[in-house]
Amino acid sequence: MSNENLKNLFPEENQIPKEFKVKFPLHQTEYLINGELRVWSGPMQDVYSPICLKVSDKVTQEQMGSYPLLTEKEALQALQSAEDAYDLGRGEWPTRSIQERIDSVSNFAEALQKKREEIIKLLMWEIGKSFKDSAKEFDRTIIYIQDTIDALKDLDRISSRFQIESGVIAQIRRAPLGVVLCMGPFNYPLNETFTTLIPALIMGNTVVFKPPKIGVLLFQPILEIFKDAFPKGVVNTIYGDGRTVVGPIMESGRINVLAFIGSSRVANILKKQHPLPNRLRSVLGLEAKNPAIILPDADIDLAVKEGVLGALSFNGQRCTALKIFFVHSKIVDQFIEKFIKQITALKLGMPWESGVNITPLPEENKSDFLTSLIEDAKKHGAKIMNPNGGEFDSTLFTPAVLFPVNEKMQLYSEEQFGPLIPIVPYDNIEEPIKYIVESKYGQQVSIFGKDTAEIASLIDHLVNQVCRVNINSQCQRGPDIFPFTGKKDSAEGTLSVSDALRVFTIRTLVAAKETEINKDIITNIVKNHKSNFLSTDFIL
Ligand code: G3H
Repeated sequence: MSNENLKNLFPEENQIPKEFKVKFPLHQTEYLINGELRVWSGPMQDVYSPICLKVSDKVTQEQMGSYPLLTEKEALQALQSAEDAYDLGRGEWPTRSIQERIDSVSNFAEALQKKREEIIKLLMWEIGKSFKDSAKEFDRTIIYIQDTIDALKDLDRISSRFQIESGVIAQIRRAPLGVVLCMGPFNYPLNETFTTLIPALIMGNTVVFKPPKIGVLLFQPILEIFKDAFPKGVVNTIYGDGRTVVGPIMESGRINVLAFIGSSRVANILKKQHPLPNRLRSVLGLEAKNPAIILPDADIDLAVKEGVLGALSFNGQRCTALKIFFVHSKIVDQFIEKFIKQITALKLGMPWESGVNITPLPEENKSDFLTSLIEDAKKHGAKIMNPNGGEFDSTLFTPAVLFPVNEKMQLYSEEQFGPLIPIVPYDNIEEPIKYIVESKYGQQVSIFGKDTAEIASLIDHLVNQVCRVNINSQCQRGPDIFPFTGKKDSAEGTLSVSDALRVFTIRTLVAAKETEINKDIITNIVKNHKSNFLSTDFIL
């Protein structure tokens, strides 16, 4: 699609369907600290939608609204508020019974559900995700919360008993860790934030939460719900420049868990800022460069179908996206031909359009960055294989297949996080294996083929390199009950519905020698429901 045609995909104001419109500008001046929605009157960060508008034949990014650029002072107030609510583990929230915490989270989910339409539209306008996928993100989040509640009930049932071993009676449960700093990514600002925030909360921690740089305004309707569903200080929000508001919090040494989904570069800075490395636990979801290996006997149609989905869902802006393809040279021409056919048929357009596949990119200067990767690849011998590949207008970028890609190109090792598909031809399977072994990343791989012996041997090697080996399927995080993690610069800790309950807690036990006096004390506490921890109460 030529630049002129791309430009015409952006709407004029009056062409936006009524049902997808949002009242802009939305100046979000409130932030939540200590159970109060405080109003900010200082400097604000302007938010521009990636969905450009055509005004007298010119394409411009319109301002959607703004959010507060808080300072170190408010950030430290948020931290103090979370600490006060935790109160060294004696606060109302960490000492509440599990059933009571479940009730608060259920109320939160119920209130969130009522804001579904509003949140989905804000998500769509701010990050350019298709309406369908924005709705999926919202619904997946609600399901995640419900599954978390169920997983906690299971965990609690297992823990509601005593164990007697070598003359020692013990009850083992999971106890919270303290104050958690939660930071999610722009590509799943709602879902991936809540996959850490909800388990952290439900397990009794208190939270300071900073939305990503892009994907902020959708939290505006959620602030009030946080305020109503949880005791004061249990959830606190901060907005603004990461260096200004997050740096001081980390440097204070008072954060117990860093839950961060974003780049390894930022994660490294944050971790280094914390002066007490043994106090700090980290759960990190970072970048990746997941390869697809297409074996010579692969079902090419299937590999292409999964490959297109894997490389281009949400324009390739997923940490799990397939970001490089190793295709056996015997079938590479056929693979490229079919791949191009499929991506040429993809629909570029606005996120509300039915059947749209490629939508505007929200990151600043993203089209320029992708173009620089293309130029570098061309300089080292690659060609754009699909018609109009790499052409763009403003935020709308046509996917580009680059071939043959080699190790001299940035695109070979750098995460593009966008609609570029680098294809590397190979003759010997050791070539993609070497790539994976030497990569900075270690999240997932997809293998496409039919030869069971070859696939089995690849599995046995690759499970020691990455954390999920997908057979004839694209890489992905879900289903959310499966573990989601990575090695090297791709992750620290494991997330899943049940794993997340573990990463924000530590196994803690009450133990006593099996003497008569101790048995009496324990029986008395349990029978009279004197403790929330030492208890055999059972949640049904
Ligand atoms: O950005 C990374 C996400 O965790 C990927 O999740 O595979 O469900 O799109 P997904």
